[in-house]
Amino acid sequence: MKNSIGTPDSAPARSILSVPGHRPSMHEKARLSKADVVMLDLEDSVPAAEKAKARQAVAKSLNTLDWCNKTLAVRVNSCDTPFCVRDVMETADAAGKNIDYLVLPKVNSAGDIHFLDRLLTGIELEKGLDREIAMEAAIETARGMEEIRNIARASRRLQALSFGVADYTASVGAGLASVSGHGENEAEIYPGHRWHFPLSRMVMAAKASGLAAVDAPFGNFKDLQGLKASARRARALGCDGKWAIHPDQIPVINEIFSPLPEEIHRARIILEAAEQAGPGRGAVAVQGKMVDRATVRLARELMARAGALGLAD
Ligand code: COA
Ligand code: MG
Repeated sequence: MKNSIGTPDSAPARSILSVPGHRPSMHEKARLSKADVVMLDLEDSVPAAEKAKARQAVAKSLNTLDWCNKTLAVRVNSCDTPFCVRDVMETADAAGKNIDYLVLPKVNSAGDIHFLDRLLTGIELEKGLDREIAMEAAIETARGMEEIRNIARASRRLQALSFGVADYTASVGAGLASVSGHGENEAEIYPGHRWHFPLSRMVMAAKASGLAAVDAPFGNFKDLQGLKASARRARALGCDGKWAIHPDQIPVINEIFSPLPEEIHRARIILEAAEQAGPGRGAVAVQGKMVDRATVRLARELMARAGALGLAD
């Protein structure tokens, strides 16, 4: 099950569109969007009074809409809420065969992952599901960040970690830099990239366990330049994709997390040069630059990503 979301040899997961669970008209819009993944949300975009209705709406959409081969995720509420157990039971019970993975928010420990893992095992056994529902752990608290190594290794169901910037900001008591708190105006209150360390730490933990790494959404959906800069930074640190909260954000995210034609061209030149040099040679010069086995690894990784997106022919 590992590596089936977001990594080079799996279904693409560049853009993950979060869609409020209680708004079925938005499910239809998400279905028709160009998002690689649709994440039907039962957590923070759904008011407490609407949680029950949202579970039903999510299960209905999962079972009845034609999702055009999209990967389908459901974000449940965190383990410490009164909603989590029913979110999992009711959606997996009614629509488990159509759920690719569950997103567990505010994961604080490996125990949270074990809990969801066992709950899912019970549901799968009862329903006779013939494939496992996978999991993504959202790291968005100081406790979760401290425990990230153990979380990343806690279950073979885990396929991705994500970094939730707004909740993390609240958890560590750092300043609110913008109206939405999701990644905008950060440079105004901190020189450099304010979340470089935790984002990079999440990527490191994910990759060390063979998982995909996913960045949180950018809240100002009218500012596509700001989104682009935020997505570029995440990609530069090793993220495989980014959440979107509005359909307008999807083309930008898909573009930033796809290899560019010039990157593919460069990778081809590197691989050709390495092949010509043969296995007996170590480092070689290509266009006046050193190319060694690490460069070749980078080029292969890029070509695998391009191949998975149909861009390598
Ligand atoms: N998924 C699917 N459709 C969406 C969407 C989403 N996340 N966000 C907006 N749309 C739809 C709207 O319903 C609207 O459809 P319509 O033209 O048929 O009426 C269209 O896209 C344009 O939307 P717009 O008017 O620009 O935005 P809005 O004011 O209706 O909504 C938000 C703005 C932020 C409230 C909305 O985008 C949203 O709820 N996003 C998801 C929030 C979320 O999931 N948060 C948790 C993750 S951190
Ligand atoms: Mg959050």
